[in-house]
Amino acid sequence: MSTRSYQRWSPEYWDDYTVIDSGDGARLERFGSLVLDRPDPAAVWSRRLGTDAWDEAHARFEPTGRAKGNWVPLDTVPEGWNINYRSPKLQLRFHLEMTRFKHVGIFPEQATNWEYIAEHLKPGDKFLNLFAYTGGASIAARSVGAEVTHVDAIRQVVDWTRVNMELSGLDGIRWVVEDALKFAQREQRRGNTYKGIVLDPPTWGLGPKGQKWRLEDNLLNLCAVVADLLEPDGFIIMNTYSGIAPSALETVWERILPSAQFESGELCLRGEDGHWIPTGSLIRITSRP
Ligand SMILES: C[S@@+](CC[C@H](N)C(=O)[O-])C[C@H]1O[C@@H](n2cnc3c(N)ncnc32)[C@H](O)[C@@H]1O
Repeated sequence: MSTRSYQRWSPEYWDDYTVIDSGDGARLERFGSLVLDRPDPAAVWSRRLGTDAWDEAHARFEPTGRAKGNWVPLDTVPEGWNINYRSPKLQLRFHLEMTRFKHVGIFPEQATNWEYIAEHLKPGDKFLNLFAYTGGASIAARSVGAEVTHVDAIRQVVDWTRVNMELSGLDGIRWVVEDALKFAQREQRRGNTYKGIVLDPPTWGLGPKGQKWRLEDNLLNLCAVVADLLEPDGFIIMNTYSGIAPSALETVWERILPSAQFESGELCLRGEDGHWIPTGSLIRITSRP
């Protein structure tokens, strides 16, 4: 019989990142030495702080379309800068840059998953990070000695992860620039399995040859293939920023792995005053040996 629980997760240990305030469709965040004002459509409430505080930002992201836009500097801003993530289990370092997609190279809420990964892997365990972006989960797994395979369709973000790996004093991650589903299917054919698998598929994606990828077309196939790659006592962490509700993720996975244990819920950030900011849906699945 499977067990289920519903949760709200947020990271506990950040020093170099805080949400100073949020509201009226934006977040005011500090990433190390820089304060940034960027859009967040989930912030449907009113702001706590006045314009004085928001005008302290070093840069503000102004959208020019649905996904793209420009950073408008309000102060001197460097081309790139580094921040640290330190917890009792992890000492990681990340390089950040202001990209044209309002992101800076890190999803800070993911730190709660890095902790889970560090707690559940031991040296030599095999770990697969699909849709891996700049590799927070990959370097967390590598820092506890796991054998890490990092898969992303975009070469530039794989190169960026290499920088984060080296800044964190690590080496030995296996890089794969490929469509995540294709890679997973190849691993399935080879009979390869992993102790831990993380997948964070985007709503829309692009394969390495520029081909379009839509989550709704690939979701069930992707989950079924990933389930086949799991070791008998392994874990899967699936995260989506695409509006699929946690209960829907649970039903998807319950049909694929009926006897597994599930924890699903919201992945969140908390503001400096403790307010909740939803960022996506998360499910953690553990298989029984
Ligand atoms: C939302 S980000 C993942 C963020 C990641 N969870 C983190 O914490 O850093 C999605 C990533 O999927 C990658 N991607 C998009 N389509 C892909 C595909 N078909 N195969 C592999 N990676 C893909 C993008 O390049 C991007 O890095």
